[in-house]
Amino acid sequence: MTTYQLRAANPAKTRADAVVVGVVQRSKGSATEAQVASGGEDVAKAYGRRFRPLLSSLGVTGKAGEIHRIPTGGTLSSPVLVLVGLGRDVDQVAVRRAAGAAARAVTNASSVAVALPADTPALVRAVTEGYHLGGYAFTTYKKPTEEAGPGTVTVLSPAARKNEVSDAFEAGQVLAAAVATTRDWVNTPPGDLRPPAFADAVSSAAGAAGKGRGRTKVKVVVHDEKSLAELGCGGILGVGAGSDAPPRLVELSYSPRGAKAHLALVGKGITFDSGGLSIKPAQNMHEMKADMAGAAAVVQATIAIAELGLPVKVSTFVPMAENMVSGTATRPGDVLRIYGGKTVEVLNTDAEGRLILADGLVRATEVKPDVILDVATLTGHMVLALGDRVGGVMGSDDVVDDVLAAGTAAGEAHWPMPLPEQMTERVRASKLADLLQHDWNRMGGGLYAGAFLREFTDGTPWAHLDIAGPSFHSGSAYGHVTSGGTGFAVTTVVEYARTLAGAGGSGRNGSGKNGSGKK
Ligand code: BES
Ligand code: MN
Ligand code: ZN
Repeated sequence: MTTYQLRAANPAKTRADAVVVGVVQRSKGSATEAQVASGGEDVAKAYGRRFRPLLSSLGVTGKAGEIHRIPTGGTLSSPVLVLVGLGRDVDQVAVRRAAGAAARAVTNASSVAVALPADTPALVRAVTEGYHLGGYAFTTYKKPTEEAGPGTVTVLSPAARKNEVSDAFEAGQVLAAAVATTRDWVNTPPGDLRPPAFADAVSSAAGAAGKGRGRTKVKVVVHDEKSLAELGCGGILGVGAGSDAPPRLVELSYSPRGAKAHLALVGKGITFDSGGLSIKPAQNMHEMKADMAGAAAVVQATIAIAELGLPVKVSTFVPMAENMVSGTATRPGDVLRIYGGKTVEVLNTDAEGRLILADGLVRATEVKPDVILDVATLTGHMVLALGDRVGGVMGSDDVVDDVLAAGTAAGEAHWPMPLPEQMTERVRASKLADLLQHDWNRMGGGLYAGAFLREFTDGTPWAHLDIAGPSFHSGSAYGHVTSGGTGFAVTTVVEYARTLAGAGGSGRNGSGKNGSGKK
């Protein structure tokens, strides 16, 4: 277990096994020069005139992610100085990444002092989150190793005594823990996290949240297959029909006193997506264990909101199913009846996410929230459009704008995508049912999926976050993003809830525009 502490102290005189300092890339004429970043001035001062030649003989450039480990030979109280590159712009994004890279560069140290730029609450949060998440490892299925991470991490900030700064430090720890558990759930092998097991894991995590210090707890209701049949959740049941592990719908509610607004969250919880009868190609099918990343993110965001005690009511809906192939699986050509009564003609069983989300969205509209956000690994189209580090956001214009702003504040990259009217014509084109689940015309497929979801929002202000790309990282670690599940969207959703709490709530639902696509 690593414990974190916040201190205002001179990093040159702090006793720790290693001290981390940032280096910035600065232009000097046509050349670039490395310069110590704020927070590290006392370290540079301790070296005095030797510091600059030291940097240049080591080839330190300050490039983002660059790492140098230097034995200090008594110049500092710590035996090892770790220099980490911040790049050119020192903002919270750069600091979060650098802290993450530094965490992986320090192995076998039992105490670490981190002296990165941290003179504002946002930067302190970034250092804390970045260090915690950069050092994340999923070791459940590995032989235990000795590198369990340092015992203590001391975050140094000149403003450590300010309340806003210690609050940001606490928030950084809550958020990092939420992101880390999201990663754990995504990384868990799909055979060990089928819908009943996932529902159990969510129940116990949510049940433990919000305890102590006058916090409001999170209530949990789990609908099993019998209850889903009684409710008429035909989307979840239809997608889960091919698996011998039955589907679930988990509903969480956090209802603090004095709530300023009511936010509903819906997350896609496909514990494994084989594609069903419209089966996927074999290559990389294993990554479809991550098809529950949206569900994991909204659950962990709900837990973090409760832990932070934000004055926003949150109702969270998590449909869970395993999309499998068998004699009982839903067929292309079948018609499913979604909760609330709309019928859907299924043409491609691999477009399953929208079917389970439909049930979840209609359930969400029934609690009359001010706004609904859904988070889903919904389409490969979004990965083609935006790559694997940026999420797509569609929906009501004002909600989309607020989500983008929340993403910026959280340090996550989201991009707006339109929902043109023509997509609605396409989703309503079934000859057999109210709606057509899939269109073999692949053009704008990610927007088609968004327009399909909009049919179930009943005009409630809403945004859809398609995180198919950034929720899972197949390559090796960079910054605070490690290999495998990334926990993407957790911090954006929490930041969005913070905005709602600050904005005073329900005044934002008047526009009536629900994703006109005029972006
Ligand atoms: N879970 C996938 C989407 C996905 C793709 C997530 C790549 C992460 C990485 C989703 O269920 C799916 O299969 N979507 C299809 C939709 C298509 C059939 C309209 C897709 O994107 O190909
Ligand atoms: Mn699919
Ligand atoms: Zn899927």
